[in-house]
Amino acid sequence: MQLSASGISKSFTSDRQVLQNITISLKKGEIVSILGPSGCGKSTLLRVLAGLEKYDAGNYSLNSEFSFVFQQPMLMEWRTALANTALPLEIKKLPTLEIQQRCEAALNMVGLSKNFQDYPDQLSGGMQMRVSLARALVTQPEILFLDEPFAALDEMTRERLNLEVLKLRDEAAISTLFVTHNIFEAVFLSDRILVMNQSPAEIIDEVIVEFDQPRQPELKSTPEFAAYVGKVQKVLRAAHD
Ligand SMILES: Nc1ncnc2c1ncn2[C@@H]1O[C@H](COP(=O)(O)OP(=O)(O)OP(=O)(O)O)[C@@H](O)[C@H]1O
Ligand SMILES: [Mg+2]
Repeated sequence: MQLSASGISKSFTSDRQVLQNITISLKKGEIVSILGPSGCGKSTLLRVLAGLEKYDAGNYSLNSEFSFVFQQPMLMEWRTALANTALPLEIKKLPTLEIQQRCEAALNMVGLSKNFQDYPDQLSGGMQMRVSLARALVTQPEILFLDEPFAALDEMTRERLNLEVLKLRDEAAISTLFVTHNIFEAVFLSDRILVMNQSPAEIIDEVIVEFDQPRQPELKSTPEFAAYVGKVQKVLRAAHD
Protein backbone atom coordinates (compact mmCIF):
# COMPACT_ATOMS: atom_id res chain seq x y z
CA MET A 1 0.00 0.00 0.00
CA GLN A 2 1.46 3.37 -0.99
CA LEU A 3 -0.89 5.43 1.08
CA SER A 4 -3.00 4.29 3.94
CA ALA A 5 -5.01 6.39 6.36
CA SER A 6 -7.55 5.37 8.97
CA GLY A 7 -9.89 7.26 11.26
CA ILE A 8 -8.69 10.69 10.20
CA SER A 9 -10.54 13.57 11.86
CA LYS A 10 -9.82 17.25 11.69
CA SER A 11 -11.28 20.49 13.00
CA PHE A 12 -10.11 23.99 12.15
CA THR A 13 -11.79 25.45 15.23
CA SER A 14 -13.57 23.84 18.16
CA ASP A 15 -16.96 24.46 16.53
CA ARG A 16 -15.95 23.54 12.98
CA GLN A 17 -15.10 19.89 12.47
CA VAL A 18 -14.35 19.29 8.80
CA LEU A 19 -13.29 15.63 8.55
CA GLN A 20 -14.62 12.73 10.57
CA ASN A 21 -13.24 9.22 10.70
CA ILE A 22 -11.91 9.10 7.13
CA THR A 23 -10.31 5.85 6.04
CA ILE A 24 -8.64 5.71 2.67
CA SER A 25 -5.93 3.77 0.88
CA LEU A 26 -4.14 3.86 -2.43
CA LYS A 27 -2.34 0.95 -4.07
CA LYS A 28 0.43 1.22 -6.63
CA GLY A 29 -1.01 2.23 -9.98
CA GLU A 30 -4.48 2.88 -8.63
CA ILE A 31 -6.54 5.93 -9.59
CA VAL A 32 -8.99 6.95 -6.89
CA SER A 33 -11.32 9.93 -7.19
CA ILE A 34 -12.94 11.90 -4.41
CA LEU A 35 -16.29 13.57 -5.06
CA GLY A 36 -18.39 15.62 -2.67
CA PRO A 37 -20.21 18.90 -2.15
CA SER A 38 -18.28 22.16 -2.43
CA GLY A 39 -16.74 23.07 0.91
CA CYS A 40 -17.07 19.57 2.37
CA GLY A 41 -13.33 19.10 2.95
CA LYS A 42 -11.83 17.44 -0.13
CA SER A 43 -8.90 19.85 -0.43
CA THR A 44 -8.33 19.65 3.30
CA LEU A 45 -8.29 15.84 3.14
CA LEU A 46 -5.82 15.85 0.25
CA ARG A 47 -3.50 18.22 2.13
CA VAL A 48 -3.70 16.07 5.27
CA LEU A 49 -2.89 12.93 3.28
CA ALA A 50 0.12 14.60 1.69
CA GLY A 51 1.37 15.62 5.13
CA LEU A 52 0.81 19.31 4.41
CA GLU A 53 -1.83 19.86 7.08
CA LYS A 54 -2.19 18.77 10.70
CA TYR A 55 -4.97 16.45 11.77
CA ASP A 56 -6.50 15.74 15.16
CA ALA A 57 -7.01 11.99 15.23
CA GLY A 58 -6.27 8.87 13.21
CA ASN A 59 -3.23 7.28 11.63
CA TYR A 60 -1.71 7.51 8.26
CA SER A 61 1.34 6.43 6.35
CA LEU A 62 2.68 7.59 3.03
CA ASN A 63 5.77 5.85 1.81
CA SER A 64 6.23 7.11 -1.73
CA GLU A 65 7.48 10.20 -3.48
CA PHE A 66 4.58 12.41 -4.44
CA SER A 67 3.67 15.60 -6.25
CA PHE A 68 0.74 17.84 -5.44
CA VAL A 69 -1.29 19.94 -7.86
CA PHE A 70 -3.21 22.49 -5.79
CA GLN A 71 -6.64 23.83 -6.67
CA GLN A 72 -4.90 27.15 -7.51
CA PRO A 73 -1.90 27.03 -9.88
CA MET A 74 0.49 28.68 -7.33
CA LEU A 75 3.04 29.76 -9.92
CA MET A 76 5.84 32.26 -9.37
CA GLU A 77 4.89 35.37 -11.34
CA TRP A 78 8.52 36.25 -12.09
CA ARG A 79 9.37 32.88 -13.61
CA THR A 80 8.47 31.75 -17.13
CA ALA A 81 6.40 28.59 -17.67
CA LEU A 82 9.63 26.68 -18.24
CA ALA A 83 11.33 28.14 -15.15
CA ASN A 84 8.27 27.42 -12.99
CA THR A 85 8.27 23.83 -14.19
CA ALA A 86 11.99 23.58 -13.45
CA LEU A 87 11.71 24.59 -9.80
CA PRO A 88 11.43 21.14 -8.17
CA LEU A 89 14.32 19.86 -10.28
CA GLU A 90 16.49 22.87 -9.42
CA ILE A 91 15.84 22.08 -5.75
CA LYS A 92 17.02 18.52 -6.44
CA LYS A 93 20.10 20.01 -8.15
CA LEU A 94 19.75 18.01 -11.36
CA PRO A 95 22.07 18.84 -14.29
CA THR A 96 20.86 21.86 -16.32
CA LEU A 97 20.48 19.96 -19.57
CA GLU A 98 18.38 17.24 -17.93
CA ILE A 99 16.19 19.87 -16.28
CA GLN A 100 15.67 21.55 -19.64
CA GLN A 101 14.77 18.29 -21.36
CA ARG A 102 12.41 17.05 -18.67
CA CYS A 103 10.61 20.39 -18.42
CA GLU A 104 10.16 20.69 -22.17
CA ALA A 105 8.77 17.15 -22.32
CA ALA A 106 6.33 17.86 -19.47
CA LEU A 107 5.15 21.14 -21.03
CA ASN A 108 4.72 19.39 -24.39
CA MET A 109 2.67 16.71 -22.67
CA VAL A 110 0.23 19.29 -21.25
CA GLY A 111 -0.05 21.03 -24.62
CA LEU A 112 2.10 24.10 -23.90
CA SER A 113 4.88 23.58 -26.45
CA LYS A 114 4.49 27.19 -27.67
CA ASN A 115 4.50 28.77 -24.21
CA PHE A 116 7.86 27.86 -22.67
CA GLN A 117 8.88 31.51 -22.32
CA ASP A 118 5.52 32.97 -21.27
CA TYR A 119 5.05 34.38 -17.78
CA PRO A 120 1.98 33.35 -15.74
CA ASP A 121 0.17 36.65 -16.42
CA GLN A 122 0.48 35.93 -20.15
CA LEU A 123 -1.31 32.60 -19.73
CA SER A 124 -5.01 31.81 -19.27
CA GLY A 125 -6.21 30.20 -16.02
CA GLY A 126 -6.37 26.78 -17.68
CA MET A 127 -2.88 27.19 -19.12
CA GLN A 128 -1.54 28.14 -15.68
CA MET A 129 -3.09 24.97 -14.25
CA ARG A 130 -1.37 22.97 -16.98
CA VAL A 131 2.00 24.53 -16.03
CA SER A 132 1.24 23.49 -12.45
CA LEU A 133 0.55 19.95 -13.68
CA ALA A 134 3.79 19.91 -15.70
CA ARG A 135 5.69 21.05 -12.59
CA ALA A 136 4.17 18.10 -10.69
CA LEU A 137 5.16 15.61 -13.39
CA VAL A 138 8.82 16.57 -13.89
CA THR A 139 9.90 14.91 -10.68
CA GLN A 140 8.44 11.60 -11.92
CA PRO A 141 6.54 10.98 -8.68
CA GLU A 142 5.02 7.68 -7.61
CA ILE A 143 1.83 9.36 -6.38
CA LEU A 144 0.01 12.35 -7.80
CA PHE A 145 -2.35 14.35 -5.59
CA LEU A 146 -4.56 16.28 -7.99
CA ASP A 147 -7.03 18.85 -6.64
CA GLU A 148 -9.47 19.69 -9.46
CA PRO A 149 -6.63 20.16 -11.94
CA PHE A 150 -8.82 20.20 -15.03
CA ALA A 151 -11.76 22.29 -13.80
CA ALA A 152 -10.90 25.33 -15.94
CA LEU A 153 -10.17 23.46 -19.16
CA ASP A 154 -12.24 23.07 -22.31
CA GLU A 155 -13.71 19.63 -22.89
CA MET A 156 -11.18 18.48 -25.49
CA THR A 157 -8.13 19.57 -23.47
CA ARG A 158 -9.64 17.92 -20.41
CA GLU A 159 -10.10 14.69 -22.35
CA ARG A 160 -6.53 14.79 -23.62
CA LEU A 161 -5.15 15.29 -20.11
CA ASN A 162 -7.45 12.59 -18.72
CA LEU A 163 -5.82 10.22 -21.21
CA GLU A 164 -2.38 11.38 -20.05
CA VAL A 165 -3.27 10.44 -16.46
CA LEU A 166 -4.25 6.96 -17.67
CA LYS A 167 -1.03 6.74 -19.68
CA LEU A 168 1.06 7.69 -16.64
CA ARG A 169 -0.50 4.77 -14.83
CA ASP A 170 0.01 2.35 -17.72
CA GLU A 171 3.58 3.36 -18.45
CA ALA A 172 4.95 4.26 -15.03
CA ALA A 173 2.43 2.78 -12.55
CA ILE A 174 1.79 6.24 -11.11
CA SER A 175 -1.02 6.26 -8.56
CA THR A 176 -3.37 9.20 -8.46
CA LEU A 177 -5.68 10.59 -5.80
CA PHE A 178 -7.93 12.89 -7.71
CA VAL A 179 -10.47 15.47 -6.53
CA THR A 180 -13.04 16.48 -9.11
CA HIS A 181 -16.63 17.74 -9.39
CA ASN A 182 -16.99 16.12 -12.80
CA ILE A 183 -18.78 12.78 -12.51
CA PHE A 184 -17.94 11.76 -16.11
CA GLU A 185 -14.26 12.41 -15.51
CA ALA A 186 -14.37 10.48 -12.24
CA VAL A 187 -16.00 7.43 -13.85
CA PHE A 188 -13.69 7.51 -16.87
CA LEU A 189 -10.48 7.72 -14.86
CA SER A 190 -11.10 5.90 -11.65
CA ASP A 191 -10.69 2.42 -10.30
CA ARG A 192 -12.66 3.58 -7.29
CA ILE A 193 -14.74 6.67 -6.54
CA LEU A 194 -15.11 7.83 -2.94
CA VAL A 195 -18.04 10.09 -2.15
CA MET A 196 -17.93 12.45 0.82
CA ASN A 197 -20.83 14.22 2.51
CA GLN A 198 -20.52 17.37 4.59
CA SER A 199 -20.36 18.83 8.08
CA PRO A 200 -18.32 16.98 9.19
CA ALA A 201 -17.41 15.01 6.09
CA GLU A 202 -17.25 11.25 6.08
CA ILE A 203 -16.80 8.89 3.17
CA ILE A 204 -20.38 7.74 2.68
CA ASP A 205 -19.89 5.43 -0.27
CA GLU A 206 -17.37 3.82 -2.57
CA VAL A 207 -18.16 2.99 -6.18
CA ILE A 208 -15.81 0.49 -7.80
CA VAL A 209 -15.54 1.14 -11.54
CA GLU A 210 -14.90 -2.19 -13.22
CA PHE A 211 -14.02 -1.18 -16.77
CA ASP A 212 -10.94 -2.80 -18.27
CA GLN A 213 -7.76 -0.86 -18.85
CA PRO A 214 -6.65 0.82 -21.04
CA ARG A 215 -9.82 2.85 -21.38
CA GLN A 216 -10.68 4.65 -24.59
CA PRO A 217 -12.78 7.84 -24.97
CA GLU A 218 -15.45 5.82 -26.84
CA LEU A 219 -16.27 4.17 -23.50
CA LYS A 220 -18.09 7.38 -22.54
CA SER A 221 -20.84 6.75 -25.11
CA THR A 222 -21.73 3.27 -23.86
CA PRO A 223 -24.80 2.39 -21.76
CA GLU A 224 -22.51 0.79 -19.17
CA PHE A 225 -20.73 4.13 -18.70
CA ALA A 226 -24.06 5.94 -18.38
CA ALA A 227 -25.11 3.41 -15.74
CA TYR A 228 -22.04 4.20 -13.62
CA VAL A 229 -22.66 7.95 -14.01
CA GLY A 230 -26.24 7.42 -12.83
CA LYS A 231 -25.06 5.38 -9.85
CA VAL A 232 -22.56 8.05 -8.76
CA GLN A 233 -25.14 10.82 -9.28
CA LYS A 234 -27.47 9.00 -6.92
CA VAL A 235 -24.82 8.71 -4.21
CA LEU A 236 -23.90 12.39 -4.65
CA ARG A 237 -27.52 13.43 -4.23
CA ALA A 238 -27.50 11.63 -0.90
CA ALA A 239 -24.24 13.41 0.00
CA HIS A 240 -25.93 16.78 -0.52
CA ASP A 241 -28.87 15.93 1.74
N1 LIG B 1 -7.36 27.25 6.88
C1 LIG B 1 -8.65 27.13 7.19
N2 LIG B 1 -9.16 27.67 8.32
C2 LIG B 1 -10.45 27.53 8.67
N3 LIG B 1 -11.35 26.85 7.92
C3 LIG B 1 -10.90 26.30 6.79
C4 LIG B 1 -9.54 26.42 6.35
N4 LIG B 1 -9.40 25.76 5.16
C5 LIG B 1 -10.62 25.27 4.87
N5 LIG B 1 -11.51 25.60 5.83
C6 LIG B 1 -12.93 25.19 5.89
O1 LIG B 1 -12.97 23.78 5.77
C7 LIG B 1 -14.06 23.40 4.96
C8 LIG B 1 -13.56 22.51 3.83
O2 LIG B 1 -12.76 23.26 2.93
P1 LIG B 1 -12.09 22.57 1.66
O3 LIG B 1 -11.33 23.63 0.94
O4 LIG B 1 -11.34 21.37 2.10
O5 LIG B 1 -13.38 22.13 0.83
P2 LIG B 1 -13.50 21.43 -0.60
O6 LIG B 1 -14.32 20.21 -0.42
O7 LIG B 1 -12.16 21.30 -1.21
O8 LIG B 1 -14.38 22.51 -1.42
P3 LIG B 1 -14.37 22.87 -3.00
O9 LIG B 1 -15.08 21.73 -3.69
O10 LIG B 1 -15.19 24.13 -3.06
O11 LIG B 1 -12.96 23.05 -3.43
C9 LIG B 1 -14.76 24.67 4.51
O12 LIG B 1 -15.86 24.88 5.34
C10 LIG B 1 -13.72 25.74 4.72
O13 LIG B 1 -14.34 26.95 5.05
MG1 LIG C 1 -11.28 22.15 -2.82
